[in-house]
Amino acid sequence: MKSIVCLNGGTSLTSYNRLLTKYLAGNYQAVVTWEEPDLLELPFIDGTGVNDGNEQLRTFLKQVTEADGIVIATPEYNNGTTASIKNALDWCSYQPYPLKNKPTMIIGASVGQLGTVRAQENVRAVLRSRSLAPQLVDTPEVLIGNADCKFDEDGNIMDQRTKKLLTLSMNALLNLM
Ligand SMILES: Cc1cc2nc3c(=O)[nH]c(=O)nc-3n(C[C@H](O)[C@H](O)[C@H](O)COP(=O)(O)O)c2cc1C
Repeated sequence: MKSIVCLNGGTSLTSYNRLLTKYLAGNYQAVVTWEEPDLLELPFIDGTGVNDGNEQLRTFLKQVTEADGIVIATPEYNNGTTASIKNALDWCSYQPYPLKNKPTMIIGASVGQLGTVRAQENVRAVLRSRSLAPQLVDTPEVLIGNADCKFDEDGNIMDQRTKKLLTLSMNALLNLM
């Protein structure tokens, strides 16, 4: 079975981005394993690149290295991605460059109309760094705007277009893996 590691910037229990990845993890459980490390447990990057003593960081980098594919689920905070996702990506930019050529898809939900387009552009700019440089799913873009109207009270996705976008993008990711 293939494996996916998800970098999820949503932190609350009611996070829309967590609901998106819950949907994906559940729908594809027959074909992929799904791990979603807690990005808030990672140390804050200090520029030395050395944090050998930190078990959470070691585990995280091992998970990313061994994963067949990566999903980045980003909320939008003030027109950018979250500090937790940027921090996690920065930690991936050291040798042995665990994201390089790794099949990766970006998704995101926000309450604004533009559905994390700016946050996702922010993530793409970061990923263009030569020390990150994954193999990105380019299409379709999974931009889920007005997220507060797309789920029912139990957190299930009500919106058919959202489900379709997630499925198309996930299938494209699986094709790259
Ligand atoms: C500090 C902060 C900044 C935000 N900035 C934006 C923004 O620029 N665009 C947007 O659409 N939503 C913005 N939001 C609202 C988020 O879209 C909303 O909180 C969303 O639920 C976050 O994703 P989550 O549910 O996965 O945590 C912001 C929220 C916070 C807390």
